[in-house]
Amino acid sequence: MSVFDLSGRKALITGGARGLGAGMAEALANAGAAVMIGDLLEAEGKATADRIGSAGATTGFVKLDVTNEGDWESAVAATVQELGGLDIVVNNAGIEISSLLVDIDPNDVRRMCEVNILGTILGVKHGMRAMRPEGAAGKGGAIINVSSVAATIAFPAIAGYSATKSAVDRLTRVAAQESGKLGYGIRVNCIYPGLVATDMGLGLASDMARLGLWPSPEAAVGDVIGLTPLGRLGEIGDMADAVVFLSSDAARFITGIGLPVDGGMGM
Ligand SMILES: NC(=O)c1ccc[n+]([C@@H]2O[C@H](COP(=O)([O-])OP(=O)(O)OC[C@H]3O[C@@H](n4cnc5c(N)ncnc54)[C@H](O)[C@@H]3O)[C@@H](O)[C@H]2O)c1
Repeated sequence: MSVFDLSGRKALITGGARGLGAGMAEALANAGAAVMIGDLLEAEGKATADRIGSAGATTGFVKLDVTNEGDWESAVAATVQELGGLDIVVNNAGIEISSLLVDIDPNDVRRMCEVNILGTILGVKHGMRAMRPEGAAGKGGAIINVSSVAATIAFPAIAGYSATKSAVDRLTRVAAQESGKLGYGIRVNCIYPGLVATDMGLGLASDMARLGLWPSPEAAVGDVIGLTPLGRLGEIGDMADAVVFLSSDAARFITGIGLPVDGGMGM
């Protein structure tokens, strides 16, 4: 059971099939929310939804490519219909393609912009349209975008990724401004996760060695830990608990922030 109560809330989380998103979906469910997972990975997403649902929560899966506006319309409609509303949207789906700047492939940068920036913007758009007073759900709510510690520090070989995560940070604040001024009753915040050993996090450490920046993935991870005052990598639960907090009424007067969840690495 969570210290924050989300009983009766309905959540849609992108990229929830695995990694941080799966942990966030589970934590939202443990706090009492019904959770719809949206992801490209159908089998993995359904399995994650079933696993979380087997503990008693209401869960579902919807195929969602966050870069596709039609997918967003269907995913939000399915969530409102199947869960009976929408109160929380977590824009967690993201990709990272490492490269030294001198070798960067424009197509990789375009792809990261599409998924990380456009995908988040569309999630904010469709979340707001559904949750604002005249929307299909209509009760206000919370949107949490997933930025990165990469938006707050410089790290080699992730120029494109860092740029997209800085964009997520800025667009979060614009969304909070519009939502507040227009009386939508929707809070919009983002988190900056530190390095976590998911598929993406482990891939990043391997890339650092492959690109000759560190002698091994382990050495790269060791240096990240060295830069982290709390002296360890992040864990999935660290990020998931922050999302539950920002979704909950405990954060009722918090909007437009970026919350570092990085053990102090980005201070
Ligand atoms: N792992 C880390 O160290 C770390 C650190 C900071 C920020 N983040 C951010 O956290 C988020 C989750 O990262 P993760 O480590 O769990 O990554 P991951 O690669 O393990 O999982 C990402 C999930 O997003 C989904 N996804 C990718 N593109 C999609 C699309 N177009 N539409 C829908 N779903 C899509 C994938 O299928 C996958 O399920 C990302 O936004 C990432 O940038 C991760």
